[in-house]
Amino acid sequence: MLERLPPQPPDALLAVMAAFAADQSPDKVDLGVGVYKDERGATPVMAAVKAAEARLIAAQHSKAYVGPAGNRTFAAFLEQLVLGADHPALVEGRVATLQTPGGCGALRLIADLIVRTGAADEILIGAPTWANHHPLLTSAGLKAQPMPYYDITLGQLKFQEMLSTLEAQREGTVVLLQASCHNPTGADLDPAQWSEVAAVLERRRLIPLIDMAYQGLGNGLDEDAASVRLLASRLPEVLISVSCSKSFGLYRERVGAVVLVARSAAEASVGFAHLQMLARRSYSMAPDHGAAIVATLGSDPALVDAWRTELDAMRTRVNGLRHLLAEALAAEYGDRRYDHIATQRGMFSILGALTPDVVTRLARDEHVYTAPDGRINLAGLPEARVGYVAAAIRRVVP
Ligand SMILES: Cc1ncc(COP(=O)(O)O)c(C=O)c1O
Repeated sequence: MLERLPPQPPDALLAVMAAFAADQSPDKVDLGVGVYKDERGATPVMAAVKAAEARLIAAQHSKAYVGPAGNRTFAAFLEQLVLGADHPALVEGRVATLQTPGGCGALRLIADLIVRTGAADEILIGAPTWANHHPLLTSAGLKAQPMPYYDITLGQLKFQEMLSTLEAQREGTVVLLQASCHNPTGADLDPAQWSEVAAVLERRRLIPLIDMAYQGLGNGLDEDAASVRLLASRLPEVLISVSCSKSFGLYRERVGAVVLVARSAAEASVGFAHLQMLARRSYSMAPDHGAAIVATLGSDPALVDAWRTELDAMRTRVNGLRHLLAEALAAEYGDRRYDHIATQRGMFSILGALTPDVVTRLARDEHVYTAPDGRINLAGLPEARVGYVAAAIRRVVP
């Protein structure tokens, strides 16, 4: 049977990681990988998360299944984190939350749910987007339609084109949006632009699927959720996928959630029942450990405060590196062509429309590793290496 399968092309990002690991140069800098790194290049367990985990292990008395919907304390904490405790949709009981294996699990289950409703078979996806969005959403059977989002050469949003594309959609079309810290561009809509998008979605009766994978790493926990809260207050139905991988540093524990905002409590509960059934059909029971850590942390205000402080420090570090790199590039090039790096948010920016040859030369000759699409992870840049990296980019990127 297996002989019938064609060879699978290697994953381009994994190939970058392997090349970085094999590079013996002391100059090497890894800007390709998609995880937070500290100044020493480590992806540490956050102290508040570790404290919650220790408490959890001491108190845990069973490893029995938690059920397809997952940990309910976790779900309640996450809903409040995402929507804010007094959001009208929460107050009116129109929200249902299901724990998933990571944000990827949430995206896939939402896609399955959309297909199941029979109301939509297409999804509008901004270009460019995170490399895994298309595979995750289309493998559930949705057809992806492109929506202009960002001009890589100019380093700016294509906002008017995005709006016109939204205006041209038929009622009921699902639109994928990223809440903040856009992957891979770092270019987010500002509050006024979010309001305009909300107005078009409302007028055209479109349904947003909001992917929130970096809450707290852009401008702050509440600031980064403002887009989600706005859409959930203006629109009757909002599908939200949440990842705890970055905000809690729980990558390998696979923690995330689907947050459904529905027109009524009754519809939220039907949607929730379908999500549980879909989970049961694909992986059956939610993984426990990571969500239980978040639930333990969320149940103790002191741990929540400690976690916020750590997250604030991570965000401040990345935003500081953004300014340093933009300044160093301005000095190298003698112009401000990379100024957008300073104002973009989250871990990622794109260096421009780089050819594969330029990406290869940056890695092979300068030992600066980016993602294959020219995406850089600012968190992977130690402060002491900013000057080196700016000079290397100047040598290779025309
Ligand atoms: C935009 C975006 N959405 C969702 C995810 C899903 O993350 P995970 O499944 O690891 O929680 C990621 C991870 O990199 C991401 O960048």
